[in-house]
Amino acid sequence: MAQVLVLMSSPRKHGNTDRLANAFIKGVEENGYSTEKIYVNYQNIKPCLGCNVCQKTNQCVQKDDMQEIYEKMLEAKVIVFASPVYFYTFNASMKLLIDRTFAIEKTIHDKDFYLLTTGLAPEESYFRIIKDTFQKYIDCLRVGGNRFVDSILGFQTGNKDDIEKTNALEKAYNMAKEIKINEQEFNSLFFT
Ligand SMILES: Cc1cc2nc3c(=O)[nH]c(=O)nc-3n(C[C@H](O)[C@H](O)[C@H](O)COP(=O)(O)O)c2cc1C
Repeated sequence: MAQVLVLMSSPRKHGNTDRLANAFIKGVEENGYSTEKIYVNYQNIKPCLGCNVCQKTNQCVQKDDMQEIYEKMLEAKVIVFASPVYFYTFNASMKLLIDRTFAIEKTIHDKDFYLLTTGLAPEESYFRIIKDTFQKYIDCLRVGGNRFVDSILGFQTGNKDDIEKTNALEKAYNMAKEIKINEQEFNSLFFT
């Protein structure tokens, strides 16, 4: 179980989004917290069937890699969504994951959510749609205590390593260094 779960959805390992995620992870680990990064694009995540069964059972009828991801999301204290911007919003593999969290919409609670995103666009204003979408998504997680804490928007990134030329990595690292996890509260999630 990791205290900080990073869901990284770019198909490009060691690309801009992955590097941004790694800068964040470095900051978190230096503060002594445990992390896990999941390469979302390489998981077997089927599309939501829209059957609505989960709205009664809080469980998805489909058995694929989401079962383990649900557990990890419910266990973590901090959840980071790291996605490249594709046509102004999340890429498809992240959207599959988001849709499937319909099953834990009413049970996930007390999480601090962060958004890390990269795009070719020239400035931060082009990231408004993905940021607003993320805020609305967190608003849908109905049980108390979930909050969208902060985001890093890495712009002007086309080639795999363009993010190295920006200040986004430093910003992600510094943001991660600010995280404080209440260990007692974290442990109480498991040892009740
Ligand atoms: C299908 C596709 C759609 C994209 N759409 C956008 C977009 O709407 N806005 C933007 O700023 N960048 C867009 N990009 C550029 C990527 O978001 C950008 O290069 C990003 O840094 C890629 O991240 P990665 O290196 O982690 O894969 C698009 C790229 C692809 C492949």
